[in-house]
Amino acid sequence: MKFFVDSADVGEIKALAGTGLMDGVTTNPSLIAKSGRRMSEVIAEICSLTDGPVSAEVTATDLDTMLREGRYLRDIAPNVAVKVPLTEAGLRACKALSDEGTPVNVTLCFSAPQALIAAKAGAAFISPFMGRLDDIGQDGLDLIRDVVTIYSHYKFRTEVLAASVRHPVHVLHCAKLGAHVATMPPSVIKALFRHPLTDRGLEAFLADWAKTGQSIL
Ligand code: E4P
Repeated sequence: MKFFVDSADVGEIKALAGTGLMDGVTTNPSLIAKSGRRMSEVIAEICSLTDGPVSAEVTATDLDTMLREGRYLRDIAPNVAVKVPLTEAGLRACKALSDEGTPVNVTLCFSAPQALIAAKAGAAFISPFMGRLDDIGQDGLDLIRDVVTIYSHYKFRTEVLAASVRHPVHVLHCAKLGAHVATMPPSVIKALFRHPLTDRGLEAFLADWAKTGQSIL
């Protein structure tokens, strides 16, 4: 499973790039707003930190402007994936941009039928939002399961990019279901390293080692 970092904070992304775990980055208008920087600059900088796809989202809601924004964003760097919302105009833009060879990430997917039409529109990625479904009392994991199942029946090339991932258990379940990608905020990626028994075990090993008076080097 590929790991994308869901952030527009260049410092955080740079730190995670060094772990070797980062296969790409996703941003959205809220994350760009939080960075307090110009979108084109942030996207260019993020694209220089990874060879993987960097999702940059259009903010127009009409087809013509979405297409103009999408073409502008894809020209920022060769690894930009244009992100469009799952609306009728968004899927028309997805089809047009995909036909031009631009990878498109269709975002704000909350149902399996939506994911089906995004694949038919040629999306490179579909982003079903798990956490936001959990927040309203629906099981976000059911959506991931349905989308993975439907896509495998028809061998769509669209990758399932589990989004709105809130904790390591989401990551575990997505991996068990065979989601191609999970995009996670840096806090979730960092949480994947941690286990109290690892800390306790290491402490005991180091205490015993100190008693030997040895040093390896
Ligand atoms: C994905 O591309 C989105 O940016 C993100 O996963 C949304 O997550 P949130 O629901 O925690 O805001």
